[in-house]
Amino acid sequence: MKNIIKVEHPVLSNIVTKLRDINTDSYLFRKYLAEISRILLLEALKNVKTVEKETEIWIGKFKFPALIEENYVFIPIMRAGLPMLDGVFEVLKNAQAGFLAIKRNEKTLESVLYYDRVPPLKGKTAVILDPMVATGGSLDYAVNVIKEKNPEKIVSLNVIGAPEGLSRISEKHPDITVYIAEIDEKLNDKGFIIPGIGDAGDRAFRT
Ligand code: PRP
Repeated sequence: MKNIIKVEHPVLSNIVTKLRDINTDSYLFRKYLAEISRILLLEALKNVKTVEKETEIWIGKFKFPALIEENYVFIPIMRAGLPMLDGVFEVLKNAQAGFLAIKRNEKTLESVLYYDRVPPLKGKTAVILDPMVATGGSLDYAVNVIKEKNPEKIVSLNVIGAPEGLSRISEKHPDITVYIAEIDEKLNDKGFIIPGIGDAGDRAFRT
């Protein structure tokens, strides 16, 4: 799974443990998701090239390194990906956002797309946000929808994944890079990640 990068940082592990804690309420659950996403995005951007930007400072105009923030499009997968948006916007304040809503049919585990509001992606880096990769069906679906819009690059930021779903993504989409905080043990027979964080959408939105 060469394109799956497990981000190692003690601060990250610490926050994921808080997320797993059943006593973490919805408000903090959303805050932790945002914080984790900020750290994952920093890691994903570590090796991108900066451009020279002419900037007026106190002694005149000079060129300094900068990122073209508008070239990044954050795409949270609703519902559970939504709280991640706050964290990544703190890193790139002038990025764009688009929205995809994908739901798993809880019996068949098939993914169903019910909302697509992603802007044109030509020349952009699409940054998918979803806390969980279980069977990988939702992420696979999202990547297929996004690929049709021809972005320059696709990265996915995820909090927890099961080996089954991650190897599916790695096989089907070797051209994207996944940054993930934890890879858990397995999926149970209902398609839940074990040990996991429970149902992230329900926990984030009190349903
Ligand atoms: C969860 C999660 C992922 C998906 C992962 O969403 O946020 O999108 O399941 O499972 P998969 O890898 O097997 O597709 P869910 O369908 O529960 O919708 P929600 O975010 O609205 O709660």
